[in-house]
Amino acid sequence: MPDLEHYKGGREQGYIKHALIEKYLERFTIKIGSKWDEIAFIDAFAGPWGAKSEDLSDTSFGIALHRLERGLKVLQMVHGRSPRIRAFLIEKDLDAFGRLDAFVKERPSKGIEVQCFPGEFEVLVSRLGESVKSDRCFLFSLIDPKGWTGLSMKVMAPLIRRRSSEVLVNVMTDFVRRFATVDLCRESYEDFFGRPGVRKIIADAPADERQDVVVREYCRSLRELCEFQHVSSCVVLQPDKKGVKYFMVFATNNPMGIKVFKEAEAHAAALQDELKFAKEYGDQLPLLPCEAVAPVSEALRQKYRRLAFGRVEEVFRGRVEASYDEVFCKALAIPLVTETELISWLEAHPKLSFNLIGKRRQKPGILKGDRVVKSH
Ligand SMILES: C[S@@+](CC[C@H](N)C(=O)[O-])C[C@H]1O[C@@H](n2cnc3c(N)ncnc32)[C@H](O)[C@@H]1O
Repeated sequence: MPDLEHYKGGREQGYIKHALIEKYLERFTIKIGSKWDEIAFIDAFAGPWGAKSEDLSDTSFGIALHRLERGLKVLQMVHGRSPRIRAFLIEKDLDAFGRLDAFVKERPSKGIEVQCFPGEFEVLVSRLGESVKSDRCFLFSLIDPKGWTGLSMKVMAPLIRRRSSEVLVNVMTDFVRRFATVDLCRESYEDFFGRPGVRKIIADAPADERQDVVVREYCRSLRELCEFQHVSSCVVLQPDKKGVKYFMVFATNNPMGIKVFKEAEAHAAALQDELKFAKEYGDQLPLLPCEAVAPVSEALRQKYRRLAFGRVEEVFRGRVEASYDEVFCKALAIPLVTETELISWLEAHPKLSFNLIGKRRQKPGILKGDRVVKSH
């Protein structure tokens, strides 16, 4: 787990982001590496940026390389497999690139082939695309810019738009919603979302809903322009005040990707609750009823549960049956909603029930052919 000490004093959001990346990447490496012969990992905005540790263990690339190596070790020892794993690390700032490059050169390689590229991600897209074009290669791209410029959806799409691809993008919703009313930003918004008119959609939304609209529209672009089938996101709260700082938006073509991402999200959310709780109450437990000690993000969770279950109701508008996979992906596209909550809600629903495939099964699961059925 990342060491919280390196993030204290205003960088706590990075701790949550890194916990999410760490948790996801190891499971990803083992799952994908047990089937695929090649994995390519791209850290498109690698840094280091604001790192405090000497060994750069508080950077996305430091964490990612460590987890790719651990995943590879498990694959070799448990599954008897040795997929080729490559990491491509990109950084524009020359000083930061110098530190990145030195880190990689000094570090003993533990089976991962690492290449560092100085320069802008957008400029390097076609070169990266050439390197990962093999059909045998599964691509995971981490896209973590500082704002929303330098990340044109249309430029990025040819790299990530493929069946064997997943992407995790830091969408800086707090910045994006703030500048949505500034007409000068029209072009940069069109670049970022890859579609015209999104800036106005965000600006026209009620102020307290704008960040959710930013995420919804970004997810829509990932589906429409990069052809991902499923999306989800993890909310990262402001470290020192109320509200959301950014969302880590995830896209995949397999419901299993969503399942593994949600496990990583739940881990990050639990850490976030602990952190917020400690900030609010310090070491002292509040002299309040038990409910007050409930997760700090409970209000957010309730909002997102309503949204998620509303989306499931929509699936059945005019339909009497849907696959559990579809229902699962619809609901779990929404942050903080868990599969356990979805199943409990479905079980209590007056009109929806499960049609489970196979004997002696009590609960539905993805990729099993289970269905959700609506009665009159
Ligand atoms: C938010 S920081 C990345 C932090 C890093 N991913 C982490 O979590 O440790 C963004 C980094 O991207 C670099 N950068 C900015 N614009 C870039 C571009 N167009 N292409 C590549 N890198 C860029 C910045 O210099 C900075 O180091």
